[in-house]
Amino acid sequence: MEKERAPRNRTLVLSDEECLAYGRRCLDIGGEAALDSILDRTINADTLKVLALLPRAFVDLMVVDPPYNLDKDFNASSFRKMSHGGYRDYVESWFSGLLPLLKADASIYVCCDWRSSSAVFQVLDEHVTVRNRISWQREKGRGASSNWKNCVEDIWFATVGKEYCFNVEAVMMKRRVLAPYREGGVPKDWVDGADGRYRMTYPSNFWDDLSIPYWSMPENTDHPTQKPEKLLAKLVLASSRVGSVVFDPFLGSGTTSVVAKKLGRKYVGIEIDPLYCAWAEKRLADADLRKDIQGYADGVFWERNTSSQQKSGRKGTC
Ligand SMILES: C[S@@+](CC[C@H](N)C(=O)[O-])C[C@H]1O[C@@H](n2cnc3c(N)ncnc32)[C@H](O)[C@@H]1O
Repeated sequence: MEKERAPRNRTLVLSDEECLAYGRRCLDIGGEAALDSILDRTINADTLKVLALLPRAFVDLMVVDPPYNLDKDFNASSFRKMSHGGYRDYVESWFSGLLPLLKADASIYVCCDWRSSSAVFQVLDEHVTVRNRISWQREKGRGASSNWKNCVEDIWFATVGKEYCFNVEAVMMKRRVLAPYREGGVPKDWVDGADGRYRMTYPSNFWDDLSIPYWSMPENTDHPTQKPEKLLAKLVLASSRVGSVVFDPFLGSGTTSVVAKKLGRKYVGIEIDPLYCAWAEKRLADADLRKDIQGYADGVFWERNTSSQQKSGRKGTC
């Protein structure tokens, strides 16, 4: 049955005809695939079954957002919580197959929560160089009466080799200056700009400036674990260049590919569920018309709930 939605709800909804039409844009891999045939495409397949058919060493940046180790329904399929060892074996089963697809200077990000984080780390640590763990305070979480509410996710950052791309200048944070210190009457390490007093700071591995997509955001879909475009924008800008190939083997509603496209990268995504593939294709088509990424404007990431608009009293968009 159709969900009833508030008038200002901007969640993506497709008719049956649109689902079929966007679904037809996806790629169905029958045999060994050449690079040209998969670039800028969504592959509708079981990642574990098609990895061996993909080209070797074509990926500059891989973002992996697999099912976490908890009970979760994904439209037609579902994931069931396993033991720690069982989940580690599951991660190993796809990670070892993904490795040959990566270039020697590729970067890797793997998303997880506290329960799956150590299994993901163990597998990464066996195969590649783990460089950091980003903690994303996503705000929303299910309250619990006998435990701490979980509202943090981890994103492991690793690289295949010693050489890798990291464009720190592209992901600096613009922060409001709360205590504007001056030296000799001149602002010290901050700027008194038309859009307020701010300081550009190096990005840390604690991210509290982005929330999960919600109903009034145009990027929102009904995917149960959709990542925000702003989060992917940070990963893509920091760890790839214009024209790089960004790959996501658990694409979901398409966030990684959409952001890669908006930022001038090439993309390849694999998703097992045909409905999610159709949503991804619709979002990719929309990205031809709208390149904006909520919370990232004019090459700058603003901290949560601030933007240049707030200075003039209007509501921020982060
Ligand atoms: C955590 S979600 C990814 C969400 C995504 N980052 C987004 O922003 O929408 C994991 C996705 O992996 C898909 N999936 C699970 N097993 C898969 C497999 N073997 N092959 C391809 N996709 C799979 C699920 O259908 C689900 O959409």
